[in-house]
Amino acid sequence: MIKSDKFWDKTAEKYSKKAVPDEEKYQNKLAETQAFLSEDMHVLEFGCGTGTTALHHAAAVRKIDAIDISQKMIEIARGKAAKAEINNVAFTLGTLKDFNAGACSFDAVLGLNVIHLVANRTELIAEVARILKPGGVFVSSTGCLGNSSFRFLKFIAPLFKLTGLIPDIFIVSEAQLADEIKNAGFSIERQWHHGPQGIDVFIIAKKL
Ligand SMILES: C[S@@+](CC[C@H](N)C(=O)[O-])C[C@H]1O[C@@H](n2cnc3c(N)ncnc32)[C@H](O)[C@@H]1O
Repeated sequence: MIKSDKFWDKTAEKYSKKAVPDEEKYQNKLAETQAFLSEDMHVLEFGCGTGTTALHHAAAVRKIDAIDISQKMIEIARGKAAKAEINNVAFTLGTLKDFNAGACSFDAVLGLNVIHLVANRTELIAEVARILKPGGVFVSSTGCLGNSSFRFLKFIAPLFKLTGLIPDIFIVSEAQLADEIKNAGFSIERQWHHGPQGIDVFIIAKKL
């Protein structure tokens, strides 16, 4: 079995050069996120990839901890931060669980294009709720295949994963994800989708 971190290590160089699939929607997400950020905030991003979004938000907040399971993604992100002379973003290898942040220690947590790649989503969202301060924001963008024709990937994904062509992918619907976030103690402040069959779901939630 090819582990997902190896998949992302192999993909990292290409990923860092790839254009964002929908620039307008990406800019909307950045702007909506920044409306919830302020310069005194400590932010954590899990699954940060090559750091594009963390580096974009760096000037708007006090500090960002950005983590990813891929060593190669982290190396590229650190290189981009050094080149741009951005000093308030720390890139660390690992999962959110490995990072083991203190309870109520962050003002905002970002998980962009990553939640559908994590096996235990309930545990992940509970961990986000644990580390956020009350009133803190959780910003996510998730591939929700649950109601699309791509949901049948569930049956063939394990085979493709054996070939190393795809990473772990878990099927969730938009409604199911929104419920899981609400059930973990959040109110949903923004929710919209885009992409083929509306599968890219953007949610901003506030910890109650
Ligand atoms: C599709 S990329 C998204 C990268 C970035 N967030 C973006 O929006 O461009 C998914 C990233 O999540 C990372 N990843 C996958 N599973 C993870 C996990 N359990 N914890 C942290 N990072 C993970 C991968 O290494 C990869 O860099």
